This record gives sequence, structure tokens and C-alpha cells, in this order.
Amino acid sequence: MKSTGNAEPEGTSKPSGNARTLALTVCSAAIGGTFQYGYNISIINAPTLFIQRFLNDTHMERWGTALDTHQVTLLWTIIVSAFSLGGLLGALLAGPMAVHVGRKNSLLLNNSFLFVSALLVLTSRLAKSFEMIMLARLLVGINSGVSMNIQPMYFGESAPKHLRGAVAFSSAVFTAFGIFMGQVVGLTELLGTEPLWPYLLASNALPGLIQLLTLPWFPESPRYLLIDRGDREACVRALGRLRGGEAPALEMEEMLQEQQQQQTAAMNSGSTSSAKTPWALFKDPAVRSQLRTVMFASSAMMLCGNDSIYFYASYIFHEAGIPPGKIQYASIGTGASELTASILSNLLIERVGRRSLLVGGYSLMSCWSVVFTLALIFQSRGVAGLSYLSMACVFAYILSFGLGPAGVTGILPAEIFDQAARPAAYMVAGSLMWINLFLVGMLFPFIVKGLGNFCFLPFLAVCVVSAVFLGLTLPETKGKTMAEITAEFDRKNGKDRMNKQVGEPIRDQYQLGTASLPTQDTRSQP
Ligand SMILES: *[C@@H]1O[C@H](CO)[C@@H](O)[C@H](O)[C@H]1NC(C)=O
Repeated sequence: MKSTGNAEPEGTSKPSGNARTLALTVCSAAIGGTFQYGYNISIINAPTLFIQRFLNDTHMERWGTALDTHQVTLLWTIIVSAFSLGGLLGALLAGPMAVHVGRKNSLLLNNSFLFVSALLVLTSRLAKSFEMIMLARLLVGINSGVSMNIQPMYFGESAPKHLRGAVAFSSAVFTAFGIFMGQVVGLTELLGTEPLWPYLLASNALPGLIQLLTLPWFPESPRYLLIDRGDREACVRALGRLRGGEAPALEMEEMLQEQQQQQTAAMNSGSTSSAKTPWALFKDPAVRSQLRTVMFASSAMMLCGNDSIYFYASYIFHEAGIPPGKIQYASIGTGASELTASILSNLLIERVGRRSLLVGGYSLMSCWSVVFTLALIFQSRGVAGLSYLSMACVFAYILSFGLGPAGVTGILPAEIFDQAARPAAYMVAGSLMWINLFLVGMLFPFIVKGLGNFCFLPFLAVCVVSAVFLGLTLPETKGKTMAEITAEFDRKNGKDRMNKQVGEPIRDQYQLGTASLPTQDTRSQP
């Protein structure tokens, strides 16, 4: 039984019903959303050798020459990295899509990329074309890029204030769940065999299909319907369904105020929308240190190599000396670690605080990479039994990542940017995330090959720098209002008081539903 909806702390006239529709909406959206990101990151790992053989064979058949190991690695890396390149395209596509077709319809439409990619991958072997696999991975990447940006928006706008943290964090849990499921489906007992690899890569169409069949029955984001569409009746209907009863009067009132404020802001700035562009964000000195922190955090999240471990899990475990027969189970352990950690983190975040989780996570990861490196060194000197220690280190690394950086990084833009700047902040954060995933994905195999036992030292550097930088720049945001957070950033910036006073009124409206000062939007007037 769901009892979350009864915990409504606001002064609504009557307690709104239950949050079952909201919970189901979250599941339906996430199964085709961040779940897909995790799933597609991990399913590419199991068929590595099969696809590499396919590359070699196809090349042989077409051009009569075999490929050497280097060439195969290069082609394989392109296949792996096409996903992140697609993700970047998707992240850029997501903004306009969310505004023009709506949040829910974007997610539904997004599945078309998936179905085309599944078709390509299923026919690639028949067509004897590895280019089709590359294209397919690019399309899957676009799908993930779109949903990674639109899903948090859709969730944030649909959840009531007191559930927003938990709902936003569910994105990270679904990512971890996707990773885990991808590893399970990739087992040799299931689809992880040579004849079945095209079906494994195409299996992401199934969650897409589930979303396509279920999501249409759930409401569109009420905030989008009212503010972007101006459709008040549809908004009331959607809000009523999401809250399990009538639309709460207070929430409706807040939304109307916000609509008014956005219209005023748009009129003042002479544009059709009050939302900021990423460019405007870069030019605004008032948010410079916030932007720097978010850019740093989202880059570090990928540069620490965690998500690349999933691309290359088998390879790392092979290098660490795990017997081949056990590698696939070790890989599942990585997914299970992150899933456990993200669920744990979901419970901890309101207690421990964002900053502690983030800084603590990176500090722990630094420790594990030191131990991992030592284990690899001693192992190569012939000390027996260390392969399991190195495996444990990889688990601990992922566990520490899942506990802090995995979830907190994603909600950071929402916590430290105001309503008008938030979409642009997500766009910047998303693009950086994908670019860095691309870079690490591209370089990872060469790092492992080139540095051997010291392959984790670059990641150690990233973790240490992240822990120090975020420890110095990020104020604790737990339970604080937007104004307090901004004031802390300003103090760290050494900003003069006047600047702060101008900036504060609009930042008070940070909470999606507390817009109440529609005429004081001083910052949109130059
Ligand atoms: C590619 O295939 C040829 C024979 O078909 C083989 O000799 C060669 O080692 C293979 N290359 C790789 C990298 O496996």
C-alpha cells in the first residue's frame, strides 16, 4: 500500500488521495528513460568478443584482409563510443523537443530511435555490415540522451514538493537497475552467446515497447500544460490524476502565479519565453561559480571512469586475473553494487546531505583506486590470491560511486539554479557528461593497455581533484532555501552585497511552486 500521498504537509483543504498514479507514471517513464541508459551501457559488454570476431570476419570477407588486434580495438571503440556521441546529440535535441512536443510525447517519440536501431542491429549480421551496428548504437545514444534530460524535467514538474527529492533520485535508481538488468540478460545462459548477440543488442526495444504501451495512459506534466501550452483545463485534469483526487487548490494557485511571472518576465525581456539559453548562463556573472561547480561535477562523474567500467567490465576483470568462466558473474556484481548503493543513497540523502555524499564518495573512490593499483602491482610480482582483492576494489569503487556522485550529480543543477536557468543548466551539464563519457570510452582501452598496472592512476587523480574541489566550492544544500544557497555561493565568490540584493528576490522562487513575486524579476532586464 502506498501511503506517501497522505504525508502532504501543505495546507490543502483536504488530504489528496494517493500517489499511485504518480508512482506508476514514474515507472512507465523511467523504464524507457534512464533505465535505457543503464541497460544500453551494460549490454554492450557481454558480446565484446563476438562482435570483435564479427568485425574481423566481415572485413575478411569484404576486403580479403584480416584485421590485427589494434584495428579491431579501434573499430570496437568506435562502436562503443557511438553511443556517447549519440547521447550528446540527444541532449541537445532534448531541449527543443521538450518545449515543442511536450515532456510525455517527447519520451514516446523518442522510442522511434530505439526501434530503428533494433531493426538495424537485427539485420546487420545478415547484411554483413558492422557500420549498421555503429549507426544503431548512435541512435540508441540519441534515445538515451533525450530521455536523460527530459525525464528529470517531467518528474520534477509532476511530483508534489515533498516528494520531489525522492522522485528525482529515482532516475539514478533506474539507471542502476538498467545496468543490472543488462548484465543479467547478457549472461551466457540468456542472450550472451555468439548466435544471439544481435538479439541481445536489440532487446532494448522491449522496455521501449512497454513504455509505448503504458505511458500514453498517464498524464502530461501539469506545469507544461499550463505554462507552455496555456491549457488550464488540461492542467487541472492532469494534476488531479497525479494527486489521486482533485487538483490541490494551493498547488494550482502557485502554478498560476508562476505562469503569470513567466509571462511578465518574457514581456520584459521581449522574447517569447523566459527560459535562459546556455549562452546567457555563461554570460551571467551572478551564476558563474554555480555553473563552474555543476560543470565540474558532471565532468568528474564521467571522467572518474565508473560508467566506462561497465563498457569494459569483462576486459578489466580479465586483466585483473579473474578466471574467464567467472567474469560474467563478477560483472553482475558491479551492477548489483551500484543498484544497492543507489537505493541506500536514496534513503541517506536527506539525512547525510549532498555535499557529504559527493565529497565522501570521491574520497572513498580515491582510496579504492590506490588499493586496486597496489593489488595489481603485487599480483604482477607473483603474490597469489590478489585477483579477488582487485575485484573487490572494483566493487568498492562502484559502490562508493553509487553512494554519492551517481545520484547527487544529477540533482545538483536543480538545487543550485533557479527556474529560468534550470533547463539551460541541465543542457550544459548533460552535454559535458556525454562529451566526457565519449572521451573516457574512447581512451579507456588504450589507458588499460598503455598503463597496465597503473591504469587506474588517471582515475585516482580525477577522484582526488574532485573531492578537494567540490569540498572547497560546494556548500551543503540539504534543507536550504535557494536564497541561502545563493548567499553561500556569493560568499565563496567574494561578491559585493549590492549584487546579491538584486539577485535574491528571484532566487527565492527556486521551489517550483513558490513563485509569488511576479513583478520583481529584475534580472531579466538589462
Ligand atoms: C582475424 O582473423 C584472422 C583469420 O581469419 C586471424 O588470423 C586474426 O588473428 C584475427 N584477428 C584478430 C584480431 O583476432
